[in-house]
Amino acid sequence: MSVPILNASGCLDAIAAPEVAETLDVFVTKTVTPLPREGNPPPRFAETEVGMLNSIGLQNPGIDAFVEKHLPRLAALSAPVWVSVGGFSADDYSLLCARLDSRDDVAAIELNLSCPNVEEAPETTAELTAAARAATSKTLYAKLSPAAWDVAETARAVADAGADGLTLVNTIRGLALERALVPKLARGAGGYSGPALRPIALACVHACAAAVDLPIVGMGGVSSGRDALDLVAAGASAIGLGTILFSDPFAAVRVRAELSAAAASLGCESPAELRARALEPVTSSKA
Ligand SMILES: Cc1cc2nc3c(=O)[nH]c(=O)nc-3n(C[C@H](O)[C@H](O)[C@H](O)COP(=O)(O)O)c2cc1C
Repeated sequence: MSVPILNASGCLDAIAAPEVAETLDVFVTKTVTPLPREGNPPPRFAETEVGMLNSIGLQNPGIDAFVEKHLPRLAALSAPVWVSVGGFSADDYSLLCARLDSRDDVAAIELNLSCPNVEEAPETTAELTAAARAATSKTLYAKLSPAAWDVAETARAVADAGADGLTLVNTIRGLALERALVPKLARGAGGYSGPALRPIALACVHACAAAVDLPIVGMGGVSSGRDALDLVAAGASAIGLGTILFSDPFAAVRVRAELSAAAASLGCESPAELRARALEPVTSSKA
């Protein structure tokens, strides 16, 4: 069994770059909301020393245009399509999931429960997941924030509410200032992604894999096969590539090969054999 490689939501436009989407085992859409959104005002991207800040703010055409215009084109890809959905209330999640429920071209739904660039729903992540669960029989992945005080507790709550899997992690809120001491992003703070997120993602995956028995898509700063293998060892069963795709669109091909090589260097035929290795108790070999 291999370790599937996905794109992280919002980091690849498969209609503009279908040849990149074809390198993935699953394509995940940018988050779709009930109504069209223009997103936040520019500038919405900023570089930092070790990662990127964005404040896109869920720009998307809305579920109607998405289903009518985008989904049929995505269905032509060879990779299965997961649709990421987001909203501002339990009713929004319910509506979005009900709308996608009957679509054969949707392999799974990812619930974006963790965008740092928009206002939060009043309900808890578990309540939002329960609303989605009641509206669809599709496979549901709950995408959580690395900023949760106790992410394992959140993982247990969404598992109890009916999530079939977890996506860990979304960006974490960060701020960068210009030389003139004003925020680089028009909105002020934004979502921080890239290499600096890696140890944070690793800790979240490790904690959640110990807490719940659900498949986990691990992401956050992955740029090499060894980064991916670390997440697998922490408990991830699939890997998402985000920020790296902006500088290296075909990274999935390289990461897949490096991941196999990294596993082979540890004596394993497949990286999947090392899943959750970092959760095993350390045994001392005195004999
Ligand atoms: C430009 C940009 C747009 C993003 N848009 C979304 C989005 O629409 N929905 C979502 O769930 N996550 C979104 N994310 C978060 C990524 O899916 C991913 O969780 C995060 O970037 C961590 O992975 P990375 O460090 O490999 O980029 C976005 C990230 C970036 C950089």
